[in-house]
Amino acid sequence: MQDLKIAVVIGGGNGIGAACCTVMHAHGWSVVVADKDEAAAAAVADRAGGRAFGVDVTDGDAVARLAMEVERQVGAPTALVVSSGIFQANMPVEQTPPDLFDRIMAVNVRGTYLANRAFGERMAALGRGAIVNLSSVTAHGSTPLNIYGPGKSAIITMSKSFAGEWGGRGVRVNTVSPGITLVPRVVERKRSGDRYPADLDAQMALGRCVEPAEVAEAVEFLCSPRASAITGTDLVVDCGWMTGALWAAYGGLRQR
Ligand SMILES: NC(=O)c1ccc[n+]([C@@H]2O[C@H](COP(=O)([O-])OP(=O)(O)OC[C@H]3O[C@@H](n4cnc5c(N)ncnc54)[C@H](O)[C@@H]3O)[C@@H](O)[C@H]2O)c1
Repeated sequence: MQDLKIAVVIGGGNGIGAACCTVMHAHGWSVVVADKDEAAAAAVADRAGGRAFGVDVTDGDAVARLAMEVERQVGAPTALVVSSGIFQANMPVEQTPPDLFDRIMAVNVRGTYLANRAFGERMAALGRGAIVNLSSVTAHGSTPLNIYGPGKSAIITMSKSFAGEWGGRGVRVNTVSPGITLVPRVVERKRSGDRYPADLDAQMALGRCVEPAEVAEAVEFLCSPRASAITGTDLVVDCGWMTGALWAAYGGLRQR
């Protein structure tokens, strides 16, 4: 019988994507780990008992081949998580090299589009499926991340568009917007103090940053039948960062 819990996680080799693989495996999903970093994908697949595939999400032919190969070798996916992404430094817009715009949009926006198109089309043909694309709190307001943030806004709008497109054929499409999440890259920067202020945790209503597994639990929920009525929405998982933002003008969040 067809396994009805097959999840493909693109960008599953590291960080939030890797946490999604671990958490989804724990919730009973068969996990396919896809990443440009094939060694990282293989290591996560070993831990999550799944299969690993190398893919560059900016390559439309490679993404289409991935969708075909997964269906042939593992089965038709019932969930797709797109967690592949690249980042930018905090820099004034007039110092931002234009080709950085192209690189970030190619991976974060075009890559999400290509992956949704390849997997969503097939899910719609089969009449079921759930897609979660990783956006960010930077999509929701003004930050110095002047390319990354607008790209993350595009991912939310694109996901709402696909939710309307495929909803009638049983496919749900949502986004999750994490706040600052303690993946190894962020932990290192937080420790070295080269990017984040010393009072970073105090800016969050919950007094701390997000754990990767907490984002992954939200992703798994949206992929699961427990979220059967939810499509075209964005779920913010930020330890109350956005909630706390306007308190700065009033002296900051109350501390314990
Ligand atoms: N960590 C955070 O604080 C945070 C906050 C908000 C949103 N996000 C979003 O969550 C997602 C995951 O972020 P993360 O912190 O886990 O990053 P990460 O760097 O730890 O992992 C990203 C993964 O994407 C893969 N990847 C990059 N380019 C690729 C490509 N062209 N094709 C295939 N795979 C590619 C990388 O190899 C890596 O395994 C991203 O979309 C990011 O924008 C992260």
